[in-house]
Amino acid sequence: MRVETREPSGSDVRARIDSDLVAGDVRRTDTELRIGATAPLDDDALRTAAALAARSLRSEGGTIAWRAEDAAQVRAIVEGTAFGAYDPGLFKRDYSSRPELTLALDAPAELCELATRQTTVVRHVDAARDLANRPPNDLTPVALAAHAKSHSLPHVTVESHGRDWIEDQGMGAFAAVAAGSAEEPQLIVMRYEPPNAPDGVTLGLVGKAITFDSGGISLKPPLRMQDMKGDMCGGAAVIEATAAIAELGLPVRLLTVVASTENVQDGKAYRPGDILRAANGKTIEIINTDAEGRLLLADALHYARESGATHIIDFATLTGSMSIALGDLYAGWFANDDDFAAHIDGAAQTSGEHAWRFPLHPRYRRYVDSDFADMKNGSELGEAGAVLAAEFLREFTGEGPWAHFDIAGAAFIERKRPDYALDPGGTGYGVRLIVELAQRFAAA
Ligand code: BES
Ligand code: ZN
Ligand code: ZN
Repeated sequence: MRVETREPSGSDVRARIDSDLVAGDVRRTDTELRIGATAPLDDDALRTAAALAARSLRSEGGTIAWRAEDAAQVRAIVEGTAFGAYDPGLFKRDYSSRPELTLALDAPAELCELATRQTTVVRHVDAARDLANRPPNDLTPVALAAHAKSHSLPHVTVESHGRDWIEDQGMGAFAAVAAGSAEEPQLIVMRYEPPNAPDGVTLGLVGKAITFDSGGISLKPPLRMQDMKGDMCGGAAVIEATAAIAELGLPVRLLTVVASTENVQDGKAYRPGDILRAANGKTIEIINTDAEGRLLLADALHYARESGATHIIDFATLTGSMSIALGDLYAGWFANDDDFAAHIDGAAQTSGEHAWRFPLHPRYRRYVDSDFADMKNGSELGEAGAVLAAEFLREFTGEGPWAHFDIAGAAFIERKRPDYALDPGGTGYGVRLIVELAQRFAAA
């Protein structure tokens, strides 16, 4: 998708909301698109309408003209158009010859800069969706690291470390998950250090990037196992958000840490009953090798804090429990600090990404107590799975504000979502929210 800010011209298809149409209805002539939207016509409804308009032109391409009156409408139209124009058919033969869609946005002059900014952001949302949709035989941990390095951005450095380094660092939890895979694991570290960033703040962005999660020895059932290529969505979100923030030149220091491996089983795989030692020295008894995300995050969170992150936020497709709780719309999140949480809440509101805060409470901690080690990676409770995972992570976050986003339901969807005309697969969840969070820290 391309975006031009200008008045509509002759060959554009002019789009508008038609209150006589039922929600989701799209009527089309050569010069006009009328879309039925849900009431009230808030920015979310407008985002969906823009997505439907773009979707109706996706296969033929062309230019859609919209008029926007305020900042929220500009965001909704740019983002919605990108959602509707997105094509998950990366591996289809004719993918590269598919037509391009252009958005002609007629908006007050002072909003043109915002339109350009959001165009940058949605390009990175699309990139996160592409990463999620790439198959696991193509998007290996090494390929993900190569992708992170492929952005050439001002004031950004990217490094990645393999199996030997991970073991040498004492990252015994991450190393154990990677042990059963022939693919080289990667700890990907991106640093964005703009010269004008405020002192004393480094935003730590941590992501889970399991490029395929079979469950390991605690094997998952086969139904929809192919969706576990999307178990890297947290990593994709923080990598693409980092790139977007650097491209926008926001004055805030970032430290982005992505732990990437497959979780599969061979003769070297870790087992239920194993006891691992994480980089912070704590020992973990393995109950279930499918609860691997919290293990690599344990080491990645500790690394981010040790490397100077003052505020840490992690994104992970962590638990089936969260997707059962919230389905494919909201992500659930946790935070140990109410000031940080207020920033996150504000960022979520501005971005339009649906996010709902869940509780942390020390009384949940006993359910991840182990008889043999400092804690265990699963519990017999069979309830509150997402909360117990968050309590587990908390043990590795060191001192300081930390938040955890469990995006298991929202980041990779099994079926179409009519809002935003989302196709099955990656949604890019988190990129927009993280950019808004960085914006708040830049302004502070
Ligand atoms: N990657 C899964 C979580 C997941 C499930 C993401 C569904 C997206 C959709 C994670 O590694 C996992 O398998 N978690 C287990 C943990 C349990 C064994 C404690 C789960 O939620 O079942
Ligand atoms: Zn798993
Ligand atoms: Zn997983």
